[in-house]
Amino acid sequence: MTIESAPKLNLSKFPRRTLLEGPTPIQHLPRLSTHLGGVNVFVKRDDLNGLGGGGNKLRKLEFLIGEALAIGADTIITVGARQSNHARLTAAAAARVGFKCELVLTRAVPRFDSDYLGNGNILLDDLFGARVHDLPGSANALQFAEERAKELRAQGRSVYVCPLGGSSPTGCLGYADCAAEITAQSSAEGLSFDRIVVPNGSGGMHAGLVAGFVALGLNPSFVAGFTVYGNAEQAHSITLDKANQTARLIDANLRVDSDAISIDEGQLGPGYGIPTDSMRAAVRLLASTEGLLLDPVYGGKAFAGLVESVASRKYLAGQNILFVMTGGLPGLFAYRSEF
Ligand SMILES: Cc1ncc(COP(=O)(O)O)c(C=O)c1O
Repeated sequence: MTIESAPKLNLSKFPRRTLLEGPTPIQHLPRLSTHLGGVNVFVKRDDLNGLGGGGNKLRKLEFLIGEALAIGADTIITVGARQSNHARLTAAAAARVGFKCELVLTRAVPRFDSDYLGNGNILLDDLFGARVHDLPGSANALQFAEERAKELRAQGRSVYVCPLGGSSPTGCLGYADCAAEITAQSSAEGLSFDRIVVPNGSGGMHAGLVAGFVALGLNPSFVAGFTVYGNAEQAHSITLDKANQTARLIDANLRVDSDAISIDEGQLGPGYGIPTDSMRAAVRLLASTEGLLLDPVYGGKAFAGLVESVASRKYLAGQNILFVMTGGLPGLFAYRSEF
């Protein structure tokens, strides 16, 4: 298959505001591959998106900000944990398009040190000019966001509320588009991947990729998600639901089957945002063999899953594994004491 003959996805009917510079590179990691006994590891560098420190959420934000602009919004509100990368990138994208931005951030992760509370993403949120609402872990952030939106609308503002992780079907279109990008790049390089490994948080990236491959007429079951948020059953059900909603947004006739969503909960550990030994080892391994940085909450745990899958011979020598690097570097500074 050449790049011209790779199947294409037409998303032109959806409003979109460009935030990426273009396709992100796919790179082979020879030293890591040798270290892992001959499994060929490649990385899709979605951490290299330029705006706001980069990361996977910019793909979703292209469609979310596009939708917000199309309805005439002047303000965006989103929700997340205190060290949310999605919140940081929403604040950066808002600055880029001239929106006001409010972030409803909960203390859902039980960490109380000054790095977690004041460094990393939260420092950048402030630099991007966002207003932060600091809520306890038990709070319903989305409900707070909707009430705040009502207040602002009463003052004449036009407000767009964006869900957890930017993972509405509209946001997931960003990763459906990424499925087409990976397909075009792999056909141009003459590569085929046995697995595409992703972290699964709010499930939108995984769902969008699966919806994209289904829309391209390809089998999506080679996407392997490592959940970092809920257990496998919860992550499967959320991801399947989002994948179906996204696929139907692209084409009302599309359907995603349950067995297209593969979730492994082996790296979740005690819970969301709580470090594990295998995450720490995975972050160090990629940094020390290839000079590449993972974040402790998402990529670190998913990469630990890749390493474990090689150790347990689920991934074999000679296979091509593509790991999607999703950014989140500021999180390393928030979790300084863990390393
Ligand atoms: C760095 C990083 N990687 C991966 C993810 C997971 O993406 P999703 O929430 O779409 O599952 C996130 C979500 O916040 C993230 O910030």
